[in-house]
Amino acid sequence: MEERSQLEKLMKVSELKEPKPTILKVGGSVITDKNKELDAKTQVMNRLAEEIQQAKIENLVVVHGGGGFGHPTAQKYNIKAGLKEENQKVGFAETHHIMTMLNGLFMDAFMWHKIPAVSVTPSSCIITENGRIQYFEYTLMKMLLQMDFLPVLYGDAVLDTKLGFTILSGDQLISRLAVGLNAERIIVGVDVDGLYNCDPKAEKNAKLFAHLTLEELKKLQKKTVKPTACDVTGGMFGKIAELIPAIEHGISAKIVNATKPNHIYKVLKGEDVQGTLIEKE
Ligand code: IPE
Repeated sequence: MEERSQLEKLMKVSELKEPKPTILKVGGSVITDKNKELDAKTQVMNRLAEEIQQAKIENLVVVHGGGGFGHPTAQKYNIKAGLKEENQKVGFAETHHIMTMLNGLFMDAFMWHKIPAVSVTPSSCIITENGRIQYFEYTLMKMLLQMDFLPVLYGDAVLDTKLGFTILSGDQLISRLAVGLNAERIIVGVDVDGLYNCDPKAEKNAKLFAHLTLEELKKLQKKTVKPTACDVTGGMFGKIAELIPAIEHGISAKIVNATKPNHIYKVLKGEDVQGTLIEKE
């Protein structure tokens, strides 16, 4: 385990009680229409909040993506590539603000379901270097979990020591969180049934992988199709690559279709559900 931070010692935060955390990512394509701007699927958010509430999982962290909220604005101002022109600053602010709006809508759903969810803003506790997380203070997250809160984070526009700023995907965030919090498992909810040998939306005979080892995943990564819809963080291809450090750490990842009712509930409960399970061996 990494050395305990000064803040952690100061706040007397001890290790998390069992069970080890579950990190759940809800893809932006699940809670928004990725091909339209600012089109939130609030009914889906409500259903997911209900499934999370019913599953009653301890030590759960939720991270959501940007979909048709974060990506179009980030793309418009070329935020991911970093600060090159002064007028991008307003784009950085706008991207972050739009993500807080989407997060607010998801938080509404948690509140309706009486879930003690607390939003943790990535741009306020994370700094990247060339797009990779360099500084991340986990103390707050650990305290929230110890107090039985549900921390909710999201892909965000963040400051970067080399680029000025950039876009941090929810996928890099979950992988890093999983390692940092010594999680048991990662669950990634997307809008398809799991990982396929080719794009299932374009190819009728696409084959779904039910199980992949790390080695198989690395081979597949080279072949996976590039995203078609507006996605500044690399679509499914980027998502797979980001999971690798966590899987190397021995943390399993299950990719499931979160647009299908009860799939998130079932996977949270450890029940059998269609999807792709990725394990170290
Ligand atoms: C993107 O996060 C965040 C922004 C564009 C600000 P993700 O890359 O995790 O979003 P999805 O899940 O692919 O939509």
